[in-house]
Amino acid sequence: MRIDVVTIFPDYLEPLRAALLGRAVDRGLLEVGVHDLRDWTHDVHRAVDDAPYGGGPGMVMKPQIWGAALDEVCPAGARLVVPTPAGRPFTQELAHAYAAEENLVFACGRYEGIDQRVIEDAARRMPVDEVSIGDYVLVGGEAAVLVIAEAVVRLLPGVLGNPVSAEQDSFSDGLLEGPSYTRPEVWRDLAVPDVLRSGNHALVERWRRDQALERTARRRPELLGALPEGSLDAADHAV
Ligand code: ADE
Repeated sequence: MRIDVVTIFPDYLEPLRAALLGRAVDRGLLEVGVHDLRDWTHDVHRAVDDAPYGGGPGMVMKPQIWGAALDEVCPAGARLVVPTPAGRPFTQELAHAYAAEENLVFACGRYEGIDQRVIEDAARRMPVDEVSIGDYVLVGGEAAVLVIAEAVVRLLPGVLGNPVSAEQDSFSDGLLEGPSYTRPEVWRDLAVPDVLRSGNHALVERWRRDQALERTARRRPELLGALPEGSLDAADHAV
C-alpha cells in the first residue's frame, strides 16, 4: 500500500515513519509520501487560504492550489480521504475497506476547511471520502491522518506480529473487548479472575464473551442495538 499526505505542516506527519508504521515502511509493506501544499503556490507569500464567500470567521483553503496538488499527487486508482469533523464517522469497518486499497491520498485541511469544489472536482475522477475521527474539533486534519493511517496499516498482512490480535480486536465482532491480565496472579491484593487460570478453554471463551457483552452494555449500549440479526446466542441473552 502507498499513503500520500498533502499538508501545510509536513513535519506533523513524521510519526508516519515511526514505530509500527515505520517498521512497515522498512519492511516494504508500506510506502509513504508527504507533500507540502505550499509547493503548489506561486505568490511570494505562498498563501493557501482566503476569506470565505458569504462572510464569517476564519479562512478557507484556495481551490486552485489544492487542485494542482491533487492532480499531481493522486495516482490513477487512488482513493482520496479528506479528514473533517463534518465527515462520516471513521470506523473499524472503514479501516478494513481502506486496508484493501492500493493508494490512499489524504488532504489535510486547516482553518475553516477546503473550498468544497476541490472535493466535488476530485470526485469526478476518483472515490472521495470526507471522514471524521470523532465528535470533537481538531485544528486540522493532520492528527486525524495519523489516527486513520495507524488503524489501517496495522490491518495489512504481515504488519502485526500476531495476526490473531487484529481478528480479536474490539469491534471485530461488534463488541468492545473485555479486560486482559498477565502475571503476577495477585498484585496489590487484586487477583486475576480464577476462570482465566482454570485451563478450561470453553469456560475462558464464555467468560471473555460475557465480559465483552457487559462492558459494551455499560459503555456503548448503542453498539448492542447495532449488532446484526442472529449475532447473540442463547447464552449471550442470559448475560
Ligand atoms: N479535522 C478537524 N477535526 C476533525 C475530526 N474530528 N475528524 C477528522 N478531521 C478533523
